[in-house]
Amino acid sequence: MFRRGGGRSPAALVRAVPGPAYEISFDGRPLTALPGQSVAAALWAAGILAWRTTREGGSPRGAFCGIGSCYDCLATVNNRPNQRACLLPARPGDVITTQEGTGHGDLGV
Ligand code: FES
Repeated sequence: MFRRGGGRSPAALVRAVPGPAYEISFDGRPLTALPGQSVAAALWAAGILAWRTTREGGSPRGAFCGIGSCYDCLATVNNRPNQRACLLPARPGDVITTQEGTGHGDLGV
């Protein structure tokens, strides 16, 4: 039998004892991440499900496949666009921003 709330988190289910949390940010909002989390996992843990908009239509996107195949999870991380958030380990101080389209809008292309 599982406890309600935190007892059913992935870490609790496998009885993981991660190291101390550290800070990252998403669109200027401070978040915490745990060692071993991908950027996508850290965003999910904070309740953030979308961090990119499509080139045409501006539809929101986040992680879909979770294994690096679909490219739906592209994000701008530390000013580098087109980073696959599901594969990229979160690092202390990472600055993640919503990626609009190709992430190169500042180039006018
Ligand atoms: S969620 Fe599919 S590549 Fe990241």
